[in-house]
Amino acid sequence: MATNPCLDVNALSVHFGGLKAVSDVSLQINTGELIGLIGPNGAGKTTFFNAITGLCHLTGGQVLFNGVNLTNKPAHFICRQGLARTFQNIRLFKSLTVLENLLIAYHQNMNYSILGGILKSKKSLKQEAEALQQAMEVLKIVGLDCKAQENAVSLPYGEQRKLEIARALVTKPSLLLLDEPAAGMNPNETNELIELIHRLQSDFKLTILLIEHDMNLVMSVCERIYVLDYGILIAEGTGEEIRENPKVIEAYLGEEIK
Ligand SMILES: Nc1ncnc2c1ncn2[C@@H]1O[C@H](COP(=O)(O)OP(=O)(O)O)[C@@H](O)[C@H]1O
Ligand SMILES: [Mg+2]
Repeated sequence: MATNPCLDVNALSVHFGGLKAVSDVSLQINTGELIGLIGPNGAGKTTFFNAITGLCHLTGGQVLFNGVNLTNKPAHFICRQGLARTFQNIRLFKSLTVLENLLIAYHQNMNYSILGGILKSKKSLKQEAEALQQAMEVLKIVGLDCKAQENAVSLPYGEQRKLEIARALVTKPSLLLLDEPAAGMNPNETNELIELIHRLQSDFKLTILLIEHDMNLVMSVCERIYVLDYGILIAEGTGEEIRENPKVIEAYLGEEIK
């Protein structure tokens, strides 16, 4: 159990009317850890991410991030604390280039005025140059630097997923939340993704919380795993422990745990 967690979630609940999408979920993640969040479809995983990142209202509980209270704070405030996420359904601007997708995400880090931007003030030009440099560095990390000028929509599916991750990275997070990043990927793309996730943790010192349906991926990269079922946390442990947990096996009845 985490002693000094960077993410400390206590009794988080999200109810939509009578539907208890997430109920009393507590979890802690230490700085530098790579943690999995799994559960059958409809278990409340995405809702949990939405609640932490300010995209849906908590009906109960508290979220602390490096000691800062994020409970029901606006999404832009949460992002500025160093928490970024990707989406289960790819949310790229498809008519923009790869680079433009990143520059848009970067803009929330900029603090020159609109007038400064129009008049091309020294400060705005400096920040634009930094944005370009930062965006190109991030594209290099995910291996898309050679495709900076291509349309996002022209990328193969696996690369669109990588671009989603790049877009999260450009806000310079310390905690990255990935919502089913391997969904729809072929085995080759999944292997590349696993390598990228490992690199983000080891070389870029990111703390990562990963929702994933692909058990091979979860088991091969995650140090600990939390399991949700019908909005309730039913298990926590190593891959080995989770695989053998009777509650988890029952929750996945009818689905294969590879
Ligand atoms: N905005 C919403 N309004 C009403 N119900 C929702 C909303 N978002 C999610 N739900 C419901 O909450 C439950 C959990 O959904 P979700 O978090 O997407 O599950 P998962 O990501 O684990 O598949 C589902 O029953 C879903 O239909
Ligand atoms: Mg989901």
